[in-house]
Amino acid sequence: MTTQKRRRSWAEPFKIKMVELVHMTTKEEREKAIQEAGFNTFLLKSKDVYIDLLTDSGTSAMSDRQWAGMMRGDEAYAGSENFYHLEEAIRKYYGYKYIVPTHQGRGAEHIISQIMIKSGDIIPGNMYFTTTKLHQELAGGTFKDIIIDEAHDPDNEHPFKGNVDIEKLEKLIKDYGPDKIPYVSIATAVNMAGGQPISMQNLQEIRHLAHNYGIPIIHDMTRVAENAYFIKTREQGYQNKSIAAIIREICDLTDGATMSAKKDALVNIGGFLALNDEKLFDKARNMVVIYEGLHTYGGMAGRDMEALAIGISESVDEDHIRARVGQVQYLGNKLIDMGIPLVKPIGGHGVFLDAKKILPHLSQDVFPAQTLAAEIYLDSGVRCMERGVVSAGRNKESGEHNYPKLELVRVTIPRRVYTQAHMDVVSESIEEVYLKRNSIKGLAMVYEPEYLRFFQARFDRI
Ligand code: F0G
Repeated sequence: MTTQKRRRSWAEPFKIKMVELVHMTTKEEREKAIQEAGFNTFLLKSKDVYIDLLTDSGTSAMSDRQWAGMMRGDEAYAGSENFYHLEEAIRKYYGYKYIVPTHQGRGAEHIISQIMIKSGDIIPGNMYFTTTKLHQELAGGTFKDIIIDEAHDPDNEHPFKGNVDIEKLEKLIKDYGPDKIPYVSIATAVNMAGGQPISMQNLQEIRHLAHNYGIPIIHDMTRVAENAYFIKTREQGYQNKSIAAIIREICDLTDGATMSAKKDALVNIGGFLALNDEKLFDKARNMVVIYEGLHTYGGMAGRDMEALAIGISESVDEDHIRARVGQVQYLGNKLIDMGIPLVKPIGGHGVFLDAKKILPHLSQDVFPAQTLAAEIYLDSGVRCMERGVVSAGRNKESGEHNYPKLELVRVTIPRRVYTQAHMDVVSESIEEVYLKRNSIKGLAMVYEPEYLRFFQARFDRI
């Protein structure tokens, strides 16, 4: 007889009240669609997609409580009641003092970059994100990556691959001088590294170092709840703390934040900039009226702010976050069992396939990850996205491609949208493509936009 406890299954902490029908396509339809989209999954029409894993951004299912909140939108131009609810939720759960609502994350990135960065400044950060880095550059700054080396190695199982290499940060501060560094840009659950968390201990060390030099920390808190879940499950001393308490502790170690509320905060549109410094807040409020809208709506409708206030409270729920990350882990573990190379540990918002390893016969000049994403769509109508050389863009000075170490396909899971059966279909399709990997040929870029090229670039088969 065994004394071991029997493992029990568990399911999502919600039931389904409304469904959206999806269209199943034929192989011929998909061939036509991907050609028309220039082999770029961003250019596919959503009606041609069966399971949409392009992004977890703005694609979550809202709860009945959020939908009820939508009906309570106060669409006054100024001083909407919903703004005050949102402000209250942000202060309660995140602890930042002042908030500036924006239409989405990049609206907040634009404002913070314009008010803090001067020409010639250096912005250290734990791996770049596409829009964040571009706004820093447009403000005259240069982004410098200070993430630990392990983050660039898909096979390294470091539990906190979002951590900053403290020596790299200190060296940058000494080389350029603290006056050239307007802030340290710290993301939780680092997107481009594969949804990898930063540890509380590392954040404390960054804070200590940066504040010694008088440099503030600006937190990209887009996926802060997922990061908190990994701290709770992986970092010593946090097992008995609530997700809400961990989130608050993270935010308290930073001086301000940009938020794309379209991810962890469970809404389809919205974001904000949050600050503790009153003078900076004043500058931000002056900017928001130029680019976003009045400081009490910043590009969001009243109803959107209400849904967001409720979404923030739901996002810190223990059962919610366990099921959310649990579903991503379920898909990732299935793919690992199939022998498919991917970024380990499995991240919080998606599974990142290692296109370099899956298609070793393709050089980065023929875009392996772009090719793999197109092949997966062709196989099953599952849509994912490139996170490799196309996303990395070109070097600001030389004009050459940036060749990132990570050449990935992101299989991103929207929150509360798909079932375990959908995950099974996805894994089987990826396996199918993997089995015929040797016959897959690369792509050539035939149209390249100037900014954020991955969104609109077009390709053709070689
Ligand atoms: N920061 C991070 C870490 C993000 O992942 C995103 C968006 C942004 C900022 C910008 O926010 O889209 O609301 O303007 N990421 C999306 C994605 C686009 O698919 O990962 P936004």
